[in-house]
Amino acid sequence: MWMMRQAGRYMAEYQALRSGRTFLELCQNVELATEVSLQPYKAFGMDGVIMFSDILTIPHAMGLGLSFTEGMGPQFETPIRHVDQIPKLHAPDPNKEIAYVPAIMKALSNTLANDPNTALIGFSGAPWTLATYMIEGGSSKHFQYIKQWLFEQPEALDALLSLLSIAVTDYLNAQIEAGAQVVQLFDTWAGLLSREQYQRFVLPFHQQIIQNLNKRDEVPVILYVNNSRGLLDLMALAQPDVISIDEKTSLAEAKKLNETLFNSNYAIQGNLDPLALFCNQETLKKQTHQLLFEGGNRGYIFNLGHGILPKTPVENVRLVVDTVKASAGANVLSA
Ligand code: CP3
Repeated sequence: MWMMRQAGRYMAEYQALRSGRTFLELCQNVELATEVSLQPYKAFGMDGVIMFSDILTIPHAMGLGLSFTEGMGPQFETPIRHVDQIPKLHAPDPNKEIAYVPAIMKALSNTLANDPNTALIGFSGAPWTLATYMIEGGSSKHFQYIKQWLFEQPEALDALLSLLSIAVTDYLNAQIEAGAQVVQLFDTWAGLLSREQYQRFVLPFHQQIIQNLNKRDEVPVILYVNNSRGLLDLMALAQPDVISIDEKTSLAEAKKLNETLFNSNYAIQGNLDPLALFCNQETLKKQTHQLLFEGGNRGYIFNLGHGILPKTPVENVRLVVDTVKASAGANVLSA
């Protein structure tokens, strides 16, 4: 078990290291980012340690001018709004232009070398989700610009997504080389597409990335898409090892679909509602037990349906971790 965004603002230890510096400065400081990655592991004892970073490090290295503003989220100084900007972009060399990321991974790998029960998790944003930020210029409500591209200039969008596929593959391979034992591909915003659009603008790029990862037999791939209830079979076609579902999908239904369509080939990860962490402890414990029951003790990784929220009570995170670890379903990642 682990929790998406498990290192972050809900922890006082994080706030202490974040204070006096920007989020990006914290991400790029190898020593501090390593320490932040380990904070939830030290505080709660999750089975997975996810490297502390962000999905937007790739477009940042492409020179789009990233900043994070309180309350506004990420913003790019130079969004991609014209087709003629695409040939000027390049896939960054992760070991040179994003060198802090493999360096953090290496440091984590060294620290966890004597702990065979903890999985070190690397991650990347997937092309579609990265493209939404690069084209919209930040977080978005209606995704107006990328949708316009999708309809008006699908070939231009293909070109951008293809370039991002190469960048993501190189980025994940650098993390694997530096010691990542599992990698998660976040395609948060792919769930806003129709099945047809997903097949055209998402699936081929997932397939391309997953096929080109190194150590495929040793390093499992987790695929996460938010709002993926109607897309689970298409997610499976990319052949990840684990399908990570959000809280709007029924875990029992996802297990059943996996069984009937795919001979239980995939492990399922998820999907406690991050808002359940705000409930009283009795309710929260019941919710956790329900998921453990539905997930079963094979092929199931306990996680949230989406990232943990900044105001989450720390004692409730502890309750969930303790409840999961006390159950037979614990340590699935390392089993
Ligand atoms: O899971 C972890 O502990 C690893 C760290 C991690 C972060 N972001 C840290 C972070 C991971 C895996 C991400 C992924 C990420 N980042 C996604 C995909 C997953 C998802 O949640 O859908 C996306 C879409 C982003 C882009 C991003 N980064 C946004 C929209 C924001 C602002 C959100 C907010 O709540 O303010 C960020 C900033 C960010 N990334 C923070 C953290 C801890 C907050 C930064 C701070 O102010 O200290």
